[in-house]
Amino acid sequence: MTDVKYYLAPMEGVTTWIYRRAHAQIYGPLNKYFTPFVEPHEKRTFKKKEIDEIMPEHNAEGYTVPQILTNKPDGFIRLAKALKELGYQEVNLNVGCPSKTVTVKGKGSGFLEYPQVLDHFLEEIFSNLDMKISVKTRAGMYEHEEFEHLLEIYNKYPLEELIIHPRVGADFYRNEPSWEVYRKARKNSKNPLCYNGDLFVKKYVQKFFEEFPGEDRVMIGRGIMVNPGLVSGQDDKETFWRFHDRLYQDYREHIGDNALYRMKELWFYQIHSFPDAEKYAKKLRKTKTLLDYDQVMRELKNK
Ligand SMILES: Cc1cc2nc3c(=O)[nH]c(=O)nc-3n(C[C@H](O)[C@H](O)[C@H](O)COP(=O)(O)O)c2cc1C
Repeated sequence: MTDVKYYLAPMEGVTTWIYRRAHAQIYGPLNKYFTPFVEPHEKRTFKKKEIDEIMPEHNAEGYTVPQILTNKPDGFIRLAKALKELGYQEVNLNVGCPSKTVTVKGKGSGFLEYPQVLDHFLEEIFSNLDMKISVKTRAGMYEHEEFEHLLEIYNKYPLEELIIHPRVGADFYRNEPSWEVYRKARKNSKNPLCYNGDLFVKKYVQKFFEEFPGEDRVMIGRGIMVNPGLVSGQDDKETFWRFHDRLYQDYREHIGDNALYRMKELWFYQIHSFPDAEKYAKKLRKTKTLLDYDQVMRELKNK
């Protein structure tokens, strides 16, 4: 498994630039980081929050791919060109987001319901952009069977890679990712593939590579949120607290008291690496100020 590439999955509100930077600095950079999605806007190029995410200075620690969420080719092209101006050579299309507010607009995994429109979209962006373009997809919106046709469409374009989270949009995060869908994709894809989904602990990562020998990359989200040292091998508590303290300090520096919300969101995952997880999860949920938060951290550090 020495030549395996590990990617950090984009997670809106969680894998922020501050998280990615601290992660890369403490645990050593993963092979690729993806920004949570940015969207094209009518009147301006980026929102303030998006500028923070994509500023090259904020992404200097690791190879970062900005992710775009849209179903409009002109918006995608405009945004990708702006990202190219900033120095990015690669962008990623989000056709995986299962959130209702996104899918009802025919975006994210909702775009998979309209394969013909998706085909036209890809044709437009590939003929108008001179950049690496990858796609992060689910297996379909409702049924795994949708994937066969979707893969025929993806096969028409020279994707940098096709990242597959083999659930359907309607699953949200329920049910299991389908390794059968992935197996078929391996057989039929003309593009390089990257698997994503539920590789929560080392044992599962190992199982994946045993099941699919020859795979050379995987994308991991929640597993790294629970244990940031999952793939670097440094999963000792001392490194974890160095990472935590760094992250907490950076958040306070950049967003002040709102650091509390970002840290709490992260602890939703991280707490599962600690004994008495339920008890501390509850304590953390109740914290209202940074002082409360510091108190819970003191207790956890003594665990
Ligand atoms: C809170 C949260 C936010 C997410 N935000 C994004 C996003 O902005 N773009 C995206 O492509 N996927 C997003 N995802 C999906 C993840 O990138 C990933 O596909 C999913 O969590 C499955 O991988 P995992 O089991 O390794 O976590 C998000 C997932 C979660 C739980």
